[in-house]
Amino acid sequence: MKVLVIGSGGREHALTWALSASSLADEVYAAPGNAGMAEDATCIDIAAEDFDGIRGFAKDNEVGLVVIGPEAPLVAGLADPLVEDGIKVFGPSAAAARLEGSKAFTKEVCDSKAIPTASYGHFTEVAPALDHLKKVGAPIVVKADGLAAGKGVIMAESVGDAEAAVRDMLEGNRFGAAGAEVVIEEWLGGEEASFFALVDGETALPLASAQDHKRVGDGDTGPNTGGMGAYSPAPIVTEALTGRIMDTIIQPTVRTMAEMGCPFKGVLFAGLMIEDGNPKLLEYNVRFGDPECQVLMMRLMSDLLPALLAVHDGGLKNFDLRWHADAALTVAMATKGYPGAYENGSEIKGVEAANALPGVKVFHAGTAREGDKLIATGGRVLNVTALAPTIRQAQARAYEAVDTIDWPNGFCRRDIGFRAVE
Ligand code: AMP
Ligand code: GLY
Repeated sequence: MKVLVIGSGGREHALTWALSASSLADEVYAAPGNAGMAEDATCIDIAAEDFDGIRGFAKDNEVGLVVIGPEAPLVAGLADPLVEDGIKVFGPSAAAARLEGSKAFTKEVCDSKAIPTASYGHFTEVAPALDHLKKVGAPIVVKADGLAAGKGVIMAESVGDAEAAVRDMLEGNRFGAAGAEVVIEEWLGGEEASFFALVDGETALPLASAQDHKRVGDGDTGPNTGGMGAYSPAPIVTEALTGRIMDTIIQPTVRTMAEMGCPFKGVLFAGLMIEDGNPKLLEYNVRFGDPECQVLMMRLMSDLLPALLAVHDGGLKNFDLRWHADAALTVAMATKGYPGAYENGSEIKGVEAANALPGVKVFHAGTAREGDKLIATGGRVLNVTALAPTIRQAQARAYEAVDTIDWPNGFCRRDIGFRAVE
């Protein structure tokens, strides 16, 4: 079978790497891919936004499965025309991708089945939003309803800050259409975890646990990013907690989506807050986490391709996945300045030496070749990933690999995994 992966980040490199190892895959393509993905797949010069180009390529080349990595093409509806063409797709329909594309939609799903989540209100007008803020007080969280590249969540310590955020979104057009509706919700305490389940429309199969590090600086300081590192397993997600998350959050969501006529097929990624053993839903994403996917793919022993096909075909019921008992940890190396402004084009050396270390795989998140030079082409650029018997050992290996990489214009956190290691 021929497989086409859509995207160009570290998540898509990890998926490409796992799929290229499948005994069912004759050929793996990536559109548009990056310099690292070119080592595991054939990169084709079609952008993730070019739906007609992707559709044409998949038809002309008899692609058996299209794996859509990022949220933007899913929310914009790339899966639907492919399915219409009779091509198998891993990733939800536009209607099911509303779980990530609209926070208000997710809240309605939660209400319909009493799924535990922060209490909230949603508004398109300033006056009722401000009334609501005065009533509930601070601290409080203000969110743009739509996709805002991870920047649409304002944690407001005071009513004044919350009011400014509401005005910014509704009057100042700060996030464009994504901020034309705001969700104002209760500020939850606790520890965050990422939870993933494959869903075939009816059956949900939980994946191994993982935890992300969203803040840019050591000790969880500084602004939020897409994720500066991750590890798996996450000790906070015990077996008992997994059962509760499945029973109170994932299964009711899967049922509701099916009842609404838009069954969810793909990977459902729940961002959770856990306090005193009680999980609450912060948000849904309709794709793998980045960089959580990188540690999950390192630990996955089963062939990924049949699992993704089972998601499309509705065959998860009798499916099982096997995981390495070893732990995986990934460190994101980013261009200096990220998540603010940064410059592309700096040269990176030493990636081959890092890849040669035992148990290490360097996934590329934003790279290109310029002649024989490897250059940085993004904020997050490399995900230096290691597998080892314990999280502490995986951490040591990953940082040993980081230290063989010579990239003066890059930086990383030095404490990925600290909660698990303590
Ligand atoms: P989201 O994009 O909704 O996951 O929000 C981004 C980040 O903001 C989350 O990972 C949390 O760290 C934080 N956050 C979002 N909503 C809440 C909330 N209701 N209470 C506390 N923290 C939150
Ligand atoms: N690492 C968090 C995300 O992919 O949204």
